[in-house]
Amino acid sequence: MAPSFRPLLLLLASLLIMQTMAAEAETCTDCFIHSRAAHYPNSDEQGTDSGACGFGSFGATLNGGDVSAASDLYRGGIGCGACYQVRCTSSNYCTDKGVTIVITDQGSSHDTDFILSKQAFGRMAQNSDAAASLLALGVIDIEYRRVSCSYPNKNITIKIDENSNYPHYLAFVIWYQQGKRDITAVQLCETQNFVCKLLDRSYGAVWTTTSPPSGPLSLRMLFSGEDGDETWVVPVNNIPHDWKAGETYDTGVQVDV
Ligand SMILES: *[C@@H]1O[C@H](CO)[C@@H](O)[C@H](O)[C@H]1NC(C)=O
Repeated sequence: MAPSFRPLLLLLASLLIMQTMAAEAETCTDCFIHSRAAHYPNSDEQGTDSGACGFGSFGATLNGGDVSAASDLYRGGIGCGACYQVRCTSSNYCTDKGVTIVITDQGSSHDTDFILSKQAFGRMAQNSDAAASLLALGVIDIEYRRVSCSYPNKNITIKIDENSNYPHYLAFVIWYQQGKRDITAVQLCETQNFVCKLLDRSYGAVWTTTSPPSGPLSLRMLFSGEDGDETWVVPVNNIPHDWKAGETYDTGVQVDV
């Protein structure tokens, strides 16, 4: 009798193992994911000042120049400003820690998820000789995971786009996005009667509206996590009623969500 049960037991056991593995894969938000990375071909050590996120020249020096273009992780611009730990996998050249980069651009090359600034690419190496070897390889195997962005001594800052036209058209970029969540919606509210207007994501990290509300403007940013958690963050500082194209305004808040 017993032998006829054996195949059934084996089947049950393997089903159980498969289920456990699937559950682990689903809950594994901090795990590294295998991929490939390249580096910018230009001679610039740091990032690009014409990246698809709309950060302009700020994007070249953000995070000390440890920045990257993303392919699928660009996510229609939602991925702009997100931080990832990226490490290469060759034990001859690479450190375990790798480098923490900020997404400032969109692009892919040879099935890569990231095109890092040269500086960031070299930072994954154990020393300068190893960095030179990595750079010479051009495209390498990596592992990555989303991490929290942290800018000590920096508040989230609003940079009014040069193309804004007071008071008819307002466009701005959000600098120093912090934490591990995406900014998925932005509102401007009048401080007097709380009329609010939802902005459009023009592209990348650029938010725009025609006929913005008037008076000092209270900003609201919706931070959304992978787990579905959503939080509206309302900074202490308002954007002044006489906002100017090209100006930056400190929101007075740091975010760690
Ligand atoms: C950030 O905002 C706070 C007010 O909330 C302010 O005291 C502080 O000086 C700001 N930090 C920077 C670096 O601007």
